Amino acid sequence: MQVPFNALGRAVADQRDDLLRATTEVLDSGWFVHGSQHAAFLSELAAYLELPHVVGCGNGTDALEIALRAARTDSRSTVVTVANAGGYTSTAARAAGLRLRYVDVDADTHLLDPSGLGHAVDDDTFAVVVTHLYGRAADVGAVRSALSGRDVTVIEDCAQSFGARTPVGAAGSLGDVATFSFYPTKTLGAIGDGGAVATRDPALATRVAQLAQYGWGSKYEATLSGGRNSRLDELQAAYLRVRLPLVDAGNATRRAIIARYADAASSRVRVLPADDASHAAHLAVLVTDDASDLASHLAAEGVGSAVHYPVPDHRQAAFRDGTDHVLPVTDALVGRILSLPLFTELTGAEITKVCDVLARY
Ligand SMILES: Cc1ncc(COP(=O)(O)O)c(C=O)c1O
Repeated sequence: MQVPFNALGRAVADQRDDLLRATTEVLDSGWFVHGSQHAAFLSELAAYLELPHVVGCGNGTDALEIALRAARTDSRSTVVTVANAGGYTSTAARAAGLRLRYVDVDADTHLLDPSGLGHAVDDDTFAVVVTHLYGRAADVGAVRSALSGRDVTVIEDCAQSFGARTPVGAAGSLGDVATFSFYPTKTLGAIGDGGAVATRDPALATRVAQLAQYGWGSKYEATLSGGRNSRLDELQAAYLRVRLPLVDAGNATRRAIIARYADAASSRVRVLPADDASHAAHLAVLVTDDASDLASHLAAEGVGSAVHYPVPDHRQAAFRDGTDHVLPVTDALVGRILSLPLFTELTGAEITKVCDVLARY
């Protein structure tokens, strides 16, 4: 039996009738951009997140870029973030003409280590992007404390953490503004690209909405520079409405799968836990001494795996700017992390097989 790393077609098969009905509704409406599905999805999303302002956009990277542009209200131009989160914040910051400063991550969680912020944040820093990596909500309160009263916007990148809920609120409600990706593999995934920005701040929300649509203050009147066209597609909004009610159950199912992997794995493997609702269980990531050796062992047994992510941002040619970033934990994880198959529709037999293979390593 082969166990694929992902199999997006399975969810589509399960939801086929609802997705076809949603498609028909959009076709019959004759309204294909910013129609009633888009409006309904955004209000359902705002209710789910318990946030008053949600703006749809084209994808999660656009959401980051637009949030960064909207948060920048003076000449400061530095963004502080982690280097192990796939380069999306770096791509967005560079597109917006911003400087990047990376901070190291915690060795246990792989999330931003707030103790590094005192050193990384300077007078040019206007934003910190906190990535809730793998699905686990970071401690945004600790980030805020480490900023010790500085006027810095805290942006939560919730691309991997949709549905994570901490005792003090949902991922996305913990900082000043949050960004989301609805890329198909995400815990709330579309049948294509999609994204959103959410905030409590009405002025920030207005800037985000304007930047996502040509910088328009009103129709055909471009008042804000840096605008572009980045809208959430009407069909994707309709599909996301089908899937939003399924998110919590899916996250719980995948948390249970991670727990099975963690219990089964041999002592050479540490599966990062996803014990409670503060983890959306987007990725089942493990740490081992030689990840490519384990990947080969899994592949030989027909089990797929992937690396999130193989090259940290400060070592990527596109993001280097001459700054000497010292990130010992981030660097030490290179070659040691591996992601296991994790999707809601994995069968019991497939989960058992992954467990057996991990136990025999
Ligand atoms: C942590 C993180 N941030 C941002 C993004 C960007 O999202 P998108 O692919 O929709 O641009 C992704 C996913 O791809 C992601 O995993």
